[in-house]
Amino acid sequence: MKILDRLITAALPMTPRPLVRVIANRYVAGEDVESAVATVVELNRRNVLGTIDALGEFVKSVEGTRFETDRCLHAVEQIRAGDVRSGLSVKLTSLGLEFDKALCRENLVEILRLAEEKRVFVRIDMENSPYTESTLELAMEMWEKFPGRVGVVLQAYLRRTLADVERLAPSGISFRLCKGIYNEPEEIAYKGREEVQVNFLAALRLMLEHNAYVGIATHDDLLIEGAVNMVREYGLNPSEYEFQMLLGVREARRSELVTDGHRMRVYVPFGVDWYGYSMRRISENPAIAGHVFKALFRKGG
Ligand code: FDA
Repeated sequence: MKILDRLITAALPMTPRPLVRVIANRYVAGEDVESAVATVVELNRRNVLGTIDALGEFVKSVEGTRFETDRCLHAVEQIRAGDVRSGLSVKLTSLGLEFDKALCRENLVEILRLAEEKRVFVRIDMENSPYTESTLELAMEMWEKFPGRVGVVLQAYLRRTLADVERLAPSGISFRLCKGIYNEPEEIAYKGREEVQVNFLAALRLMLEHNAYVGIATHDDLLIEGAVNMVREYGLNPSEYEFQMLLGVREARRSELVTDGHRMRVYVPFGVDWYGYSMRRISENPAIAGHVFKALFRKGG
C-alpha cells in the first residue's frame, strides 16, 4: 500500500460525515431507487447498461429482510416503469441468508417472480466465504425455477473458483467474474495480486470454453486487456459477453471500451447506507483511498 493511501485509510474513521457524503456522491446514485433509475437513464444515453443494487447486507431480523425484499420489488417495478436497460443485483444476506435460509429462499422467489413478470434480470452478488456455497446452491435452485432470469458471481481470489466454473457452467447460467472484495484467509484465497490476476484469466477462459455469458467485472487494465484479447481469440461478438464496472470508477476507460464496441454495464448502488458502503469500498480496497483524495481535489472527480 502506498504511504498516502495508508495515511488516508488510517484517517478515514475520523473523516466527518459530510465529507464522506461528498465522496459517496461519486459511488452511490442517491438514497432512493428513483435516483438509481435516473442514473441509469443517463448511462443508457451513453450506451451503457445498468444493474441497480439496493444497499444493505447482513440483515439480522425477519422485519429487516421484509424491508429489503420490498425495496428489491420496488426496484424491479421502477426499472420496468422507467423502461431503462438495467438489471437488479441482490445480496442474499440482506434477504436472510445469515440466519434463515428458508426465509431467504422465500424472499428471493418473491423477487424473481416479479422479475420474471417484468422481464428484469437478477444477478446474485457474491459475499464472503461463509456464504459461498449456500449462495451458489440457492442460485442454481433459482436457475431451475426461473431459467435465464438469474445469474451468479464468482470471485477470482478463491481457490475453489475454477472447480465452481466446471460445476456450474454446464447448466448455462451466466457469470459475473470479479476479483472479490472480502478479506479471506490464505487457506481458501489467493492473496497476491498476480495470483488473483492469473486465476481471473484462467476462470474467464474456462467460462468461455463452456460458451458461458460472462460479465467481466474489473477496472484492472491488465485484466481488461487480457479479456479483450480473449474475446477476440474466441471470435465472440459484443452480444456474447459484457464488461462491468462500478459507478464512479474509471469512467474514461469505461468510455473507451464502449467506443471500441464492447457491451458495458455499470453497478449502480442506492440507499441510505451510503456511508457504510462508501467506507467499506474505501477500506476494503486501500488503493481507493488515494483515488478519493485525488477526486476531492480534481474538478468533477
Ligand atoms: P483493482 O482493485 O486492482 O482496480 C484496478 C484499478 O481500478 C485501480 O488501480 C484503480 O485505478 C481503479 N479502481 C478500482 N476501484 C476503484 C474505486 N472504487 N475508485 C476509484 N478507482 C478504482 N466483489 C465481490 O466480492 N462480490 C461481488 O458480487 C462483486 N460485484 C462486483 C460488481 C461489479 C460490476 C464490479 C466492477 C466489482 C464487483 N466486486 C464484487 C468487486 C470486485 O471484487 C473488486 O473488489 C473490485 O472490482 C476491484 O477490483 P478490480 O478488478 O477493479 O482491480
